Amino acid sequence: MTPRPRTLATVGGMAAELLPTIRDTRGRALHDLRISVTDRCNFRCVYCMPKEIFGRDYAFLPKNLLLSFEEIARVARAGISLGVRKLRLTGGEPLLRRDLEDLVRMLAALPTPDGSPLDIAVTTNGSALAHKAAALREAGLNRVTVSLDSFDDATFRAMNDVDFPVDRVLEGIRVAREVGFPVKVNTVLKRGLNDHDIIPIAEHFRGTGVTVRFIEFMDVGTTNGWNLAEVVPSAEVVEQISAVYPLEPVPPAYPGETATRWRYLDGAGEIGAISSVTSPFCGSCTRARISADGKLFTCLFASRGHDLRTLLRSHADDGGQDAVVRDALAGLWAVRDDHYSELRSQATASQAGPRERIEMSYIGG
Ligand code: GTP
Ligand code: 5AD
Ligand code: SF4
Ligand code: SF4
Repeated sequence: MTPRPRTLATVGGMAAELLPTIRDTRGRALHDLRISVTDRCNFRCVYCMPKEIFGRDYAFLPKNLLLSFEEIARVARAGISLGVRKLRLTGGEPLLRRDLEDLVRMLAALPTPDGSPLDIAVTTNGSALAHKAAALREAGLNRVTVSLDSFDDATFRAMNDVDFPVDRVLEGIRVAREVGFPVKVNTVLKRGLNDHDIIPIAEHFRGTGVTVRFIEFMDVGTTNGWNLAEVVPSAEVVEQISAVYPLEPVPPAYPGETATRWRYLDGAGEIGAISSVTSPFCGSCTRARISADGKLFTCLFASRGHDLRTLLRSHADDGGQDAVVRDALAGLWAVRDDHYSELRSQATASQAGPRERIEMSYIGG
């Protein structure tokens, strides 16, 4: 299917340019491409890769099934031609993929049809960040998001379940900032595990320029034993922080932002709350995901992806529009109807639905 052309306003006196725009069945554009570069991780976070499932015998993907950097860049190029302006590298743990900076360099060199900037970000557990930050910055990565669930070493070690010390992640954040990255921190809250850390984490990053986003524990995948009782609602988080450091709401930085934003009244920066359980944001979801083995998923909670790897390997890159890949993406987006979080919330079930769902570590969150 070829996307419908759209005439854009004249830019800088130049003739109006014809650009495609694609919308899914709910009128949502395609703006973010989240690219998983590996399904492996050196952590075993209890809410993501529980050791009992992802222990010694777990069958991770063999290398020949992973998309090469060239193949990833082809998919990204096709996405950009359809409106993608944000690329987020995820995993598993993306910094475990060897020479990741080479991929970043290739992606950073991709032009956008209208000359608008491309935002390239990475979501990492921070374990290798101190070591990799400078190379990633130099390659053209724009920003970094680090997962950090506790500021308390014992709790942090228990949550990553591989006894990884919090200091090394904090060092990663320090180095990332030193080399010039804007940094966000993602904190997944699980009732009874790290909800005592809300104020210490907020306090630690207040006034540093680092935005912490508190995330509601989600029923993603089928292995993390999700239960509504373990979700800490964002409203509670905001109330708790605001009681100590008053907050006021801030409008979204961009349409469809996952986080709602709150600013400290004393000017010490902001926090975010990602509330996909208590306040789903499917209505403005402009995200597509590519798994490390080249499947396109149009929802984080999908049970099935669409194979792009076979297509990529059976059609050589034509060096131009790569119409085969672009048309495949456009066709899959055009029929998209996903709104899982809204459906779950309407069902108001205290347990996640029984249907099959892919794992977060496979698709990268
Ligand atoms: P920014 O570009 O900095 O706003 O990042 P982001 O929020 O798009 O990406 P990030 O990887 O930091 O995601 C933060 C959290 O939001 C992740 O832990 C995901 O769990 C959750 N999340 C991201 N996208 C979606 C989505 O489409 N649906 C749901 N339900 N959750 C999402
Ligand atoms: N619920 C909410 N967030 C999760 N993440 C991983 N698993 C879950 C879950 N079940 C988060 C990680 C990381 C991001 C990619 O997704 O902490 O910040
Ligand atoms: Fe690894 Fe991130 Fe999953 Fe933790 S949340 S196990 S760091 S992929
Ligand atoms: Fe998007 Fe699916 Fe998440 Fe809804 S549940 S916001 S459709 S990825």
